[in-house]
Amino acid sequence: MNGQRPAPRGVELHLTLDEGGGLTQQIYDQIRRAILNGRLPGDARMSSSRELARSLGVARNTVAAAFDHLVAEGYLQARPGVGTFVSAEADRAALSPDRTASPLTPVPLWRNGAFEVPVLNRDPPAYDFRTGMPDDARFPYPAWRRHVDAVVRRSSRAAEYADPSGPGVLRAAIARHLGVSRGLNIVADDLVVTNGVQQAVALLAQVLVEPGDVVAVEDPGYPLARRAFEAARATVVPVPVDEQGIVVDRLPPQAAAVYVTPAHQYPLGVRMSLARRTALLEWAREADAAIIEDDYDTDFRYGARPIDPLHVLDHADRVVYVGSFSKSILPTLRVGYCSAPPALLDALRRARFVADWHGPTATQLALASFIDEGRLAAHIRRMRREYERRHDRITTVLDSDFRPHLRPIPTAAGLHLAAWCEDASHDTIAGWQAACETEGVRFQSIGDFALGTVDPGIMLGFGRIPFDRIDDGLHRLRAAIGSG
Ligand SMILES: Cc1ncc(COP(=O)(O)O)c(C=O)c1O
Repeated sequence: MNGQRPAPRGVELHLTLDEGGGLTQQIYDQIRRAILNGRLPGDARMSSSRELARSLGVARNTVAAAFDHLVAEGYLQARPGVGTFVSAEADRAALSPDRTASPLTPVPLWRNGAFEVPVLNRDPPAYDFRTGMPDDARFPYPAWRRHVDAVVRRSSRAAEYADPSGPGVLRAAIARHLGVSRGLNIVADDLVVTNGVQQAVALLAQVLVEPGDVVAVEDPGYPLARRAFEAARATVVPVPVDEQGIVVDRLPPQAAAVYVTPAHQYPLGVRMSLARRTALLEWAREADAAIIEDDYDTDFRYGARPIDPLHVLDHADRVVYVGSFSKSILPTLRVGYCSAPPALLDALRRARFVADWHGPTATQLALASFIDEGRLAAHIRRMRREYERRHDRITTVLDSDFRPHLRPIPTAAGLHLAAWCEDASHDTIAGWQAACETEGVRFQSIGDFALGTVDPGIMLGFGRIPFDRIDDGLHRLRAAIGSG
């Protein structure tokens, strides 16, 4: 080694010489086009004329002549002793294709903007009361990294296409976790691992629903589940929710399925009463319908005695249970699961195969050992205490400083609570949100999750707000509400 670093290689631009005309002209045209439409960015280093000539099977002079023209016109710059580079000043707009003129358009369902992706990764606010996000600052990253490292080092286990259901070790770990934490009586073979609840619901919509079938959803409710059914061309029917959960008497008798969040209704935060659970199971039997139970954030329970999940109360095998590690670990992990009766499970496995074959094996194996080593349980225990403190603090401040404007809705689990606004309209709440935004406070409005009419109310998430910022954040919210 003489200590010199090898010269960096230039961009290997795809060129063809079958467009007709002289070879130099063709090389010139294609490089110029690539510069003008941005495929070759400013300051990119070109392959040398010798390399390019060799790869195209032409004389070096042929390429050198094209380079000379491009340098003379300012598209390329020759830096003696260094190489040839794309000029930073070339007018890139000149040849950009007009993409709006394409005759290709999506089918109507996907054309109307109904499935808009929210604006993501905005700067987090100073006082973050958004719902549904756990506190990533307290996640034990070093331990997680060790588990991922160990899997990647034993790379042969994660190197081949795998079973769409997910690794057996992960399914066994999840079955044990759900047995202990929720009382579910299931084994590995009762589960399919998915990319979060979202994929579980999307796959269920495919295998349970024919186009036009009626699917009942909670109103207000979780919009992403609703959209999965709409995307499967179901007829979605909103059903009101009261302080006991979905109003079973209002369920459409012809529904093929109902989607519910019994442990912590999204967005109201209420828990479905035992009487309502029993009535819902009875309704499903009479309607010959499936119940999709989304148990998305009940690793975190506060005080109240747990009520059995529908999956446990069900003796007719009509309940499909979905859950996620998005709240107990991180939403970016994209790992969820679905427990379903055997025929459905087999269809889900095949639907997963068609959709994306399977999830990232290394992540899933790391998660299995993370659970087996007791890391997940320890993290949940620690975070349950922390979230309970935050939940209790917010409830206390709402009770002491926000009456009579806000009336908290009792909640026993999860990462957010909601409150009715006694003397405000939805527009008033939008005004509070705007005023709060300038103060660094962000929260959501119940109205944004309703299809029909709903009383005005707000949601306060406590996954992302540190305990010591709660009072200050709520103080700012209180100022925005004013004396009313
Ligand atoms: C009702 C409900 N279900 C499920 C989820 C989690 O979905 P996923 O597992 O796809 O991240 C959320 C997240 O906010 C939710 O609010």
